[in-house]
Amino acid sequence: MADSVDPAAIDSEVPHAARIWNYWMGGKDNYASDRAAGDAVAEVYPQIVTMARLSRRFLVRAVGHLAGECGIRQFIDIGTGLPTMQNTHEVAQSIAPESRIVYVDNDPLVLVHARALMGSVTGEGATTYVHADYHDPDRILDGAREMLDFGKPVAVMFMGVLGYEPDLAVVRGIVGRVMDATPSGSHLVLWDGTDTGAEVVEGAEKLVESGGVPYVLRGPEQLARCFEGLEMVEPGLVPISEWRPDTAPVPIDAYGAVARKP
Ligand SMILES: C[S@@+](CC[C@H](N)C(=O)[O-])C[C@H]1O[C@@H](n2cnc3c(N)ncnc32)[C@H](O)[C@@H]1O
Repeated sequence: MADSVDPAAIDSEVPHAARIWNYWMGGKDNYASDRAAGDAVAEVYPQIVTMARLSRRFLVRAVGHLAGECGIRQFIDIGTGLPTMQNTHEVAQSIAPESRIVYVDNDPLVLVHARALMGSVTGEGATTYVHADYHDPDRILDGAREMLDFGKPVAVMFMGVLGYEPDLAVVRGIVGRVMDATPSGSHLVLWDGTDTGAEVVEGAEKLVESGGVPYVLRGPEQLARCFEGLEMVEPGLVPISEWRPDTAPVPIDAYGAVARKP
């Protein structure tokens, strides 16, 4: 999809969600304002760094399961973030080289990086990027249709992104609109930070105080409502470190699940 970005839109003085997350994940694509906001949160909730890194491990296991056991070859990763390690296309194409991945984000800096870094890692596969806000799911779907075949199953991913929308009904509408466009056998992968501890709630408050984009933490039972009408893949909605773990799970205020469209 043809997109252009106004360099003035990349403001290094204002903390950006994608760059703060990049900082917590151990990446280098962040500015002093992002690090200050990230540190303010980490001061009251040091586990945020663990959450960021565990979330990438969850992504690796979930995408690996979908590309491996489920045979999924098409992925839409909504709220991609800045490319770091083991991005969706690298995980999927390492298992099935023909996998096709559509990345979506609304941050202009992600757009700049996406062009450079998200080229396909294999000859057979393909990746593309749609610069869009998830509040406009039809724009996402139009962009995705340029590369994906919606007659075949698609994995739709919302990885730590839906808390930017405070209204759960709106969130469910967005997820539902995208899943409605996909055929039977498609999957939803979703994780999000949860309000399951006093420290994580305080961390979210610090984020707002330090100028970061507010993030709404929900309870696991609220996140579960995003999966209504879908069949949960075992073990269901659990702390992300407990989803088909490959190392000893550690407690974390973030729940995730994979579910299949019947
Ligand atoms: C916490 S990061 C998560 C990144 C990535 N999904 C991961 O698992 O590492 C949140 C990302 O969501 C993006 N984002 C926030 N609001 C968005 C929106 N309304 N539409 C699309 N992307 C959004 C941000 O720009 C940022 O890149």
